[in-house]
Amino acid sequence: MGYRVVVAGATGNVGREMLNILAEREFPIDDIAVLASRRSLGTEVSFGDRTLKTQDLATFDFTGWDMALFAVGSGPTKEFAPKAAAAGCVVIDNSSLYRYDPDVPLIVPECNAEAIHGYSKKNIIANPNCSTAQMVVALKPLHDRAKIKRVVVSTYQSVSGAGKEGMDELWDQTKAIYNPTDDVKVKKFQKQIAFNVIPHIDVFMEDGSTKEEWKMVAETKKIVDPSIKVTATCVRVPVFVGHAEAVNVEFEDFLDEDEARDILREAPGCMVIDKREDGGYVTPIECVGDFATFISRIRQDSTVENGLNIWVVSDNLRKGAALNAVQIAEVLGRECLKKG
Ligand SMILES: NC(=O)c1ccc[n+]([C@@H]2O[C@H](COP(=O)([O-])OP(=O)(O)OC[C@H]3O[C@@H](n4cnc5c(N)ncnc54)[C@H](OP(=O)(O)O)[C@@H]3O)[C@@H](O)[C@H]2O)c1
Repeated sequence: MGYRVVVAGATGNVGREMLNILAEREFPIDDIAVLASRRSLGTEVSFGDRTLKTQDLATFDFTGWDMALFAVGSGPTKEFAPKAAAAGCVVIDNSSLYRYDPDVPLIVPECNAEAIHGYSKKNIIANPNCSTAQMVVALKPLHDRAKIKRVVVSTYQSVSGAGKEGMDELWDQTKAIYNPTDDVKVKKFQKQIAFNVIPHIDVFMEDGSTKEEWKMVAETKKIVDPSIKVTATCVRVPVFVGHAEAVNVEFEDFLDEDEARDILREAPGCMVIDKREDGGYVTPIECVGDFATFISRIRQDSTVENGLNIWVVSDNLRKGAALNAVQIAEVLGRECLKKG
């Protein structure tokens, strides 16, 4: 017996990828419903070799459904996730709405799968921010060995992290630059993104950091260890899919770069590609469509005691969102709902 699964936001970047991954990983499904806004009513989306028609999230009855994977943004989530949860359908949410709620587990299965049991307080489980997810997959095994004190991270985040409108904007601006009669229109991003980089993702906070940066700090603490200090600079770059991160880590104990490489080679979800030669590292284009979090450029930082630098790259629509949500669904099924 399998699960009755809902995918909300099925016409979006993350929703479509969740459907691909549910099919690829042969998640045990008896029945599936795909939802979006009323605007998309009847729009067809692919699920394996089937084509499904989207229904309206606003009128959908969640009674009798086991789990709902939400990727609709915080506004609609606020309205509809509690309705699904109250109907007995466990929500796995991609928005930031519930991530910092102490009664909602925030899960990256490679790091804190055991937190899943907290789901029953609200019938909701949160999926982390894309930049946090790939970073903690790399940090957790290193933390277990040498205890991380402080992390300094700079991100290079693709436009797909801003939804399908973000991808359209990079595409349209790039075309407009080559066609001088077109205007380069700025809508989704704060400045031109084509052939540019923008050190601004999400809103500004009082201390001058951005919400995206704050999320990396708060979520790393919740998922890995509240004692870890994190400082982040999050930057949007003109790449369609795949986030990269330059991560500087300071440990309590000495960790040799060769041992760190060996630890990461064995760590769940990690793939080490680290040759000190031309092209011996992974770039965002190469990680698209992959499940792994790729780690390259592992090297000692001799400017601090017990320092290490790493380069972390992953498909933000997969480990950063859809894959992690499906992995949570797998843990939920295995550990809690026990069907399938
Ligand atoms: N992209 C990433 O890397 C990433 C990573 C982690 C988390 N997330 C989070 O995942 C969520 C979705 O992101 P995305 O990148 O997939 O965005 P997207 O491509 O813009 O897709 C948004 C989806 O939400 C639906 N939607 C919007 N308003 C709705 C409403 N009022 N009622 C029902 N459905 C509605 C859209 O349906 P229509 O087509 O009908 O408008 C569409 O299916 C966001 O919360 C985002 O922060 C994204």
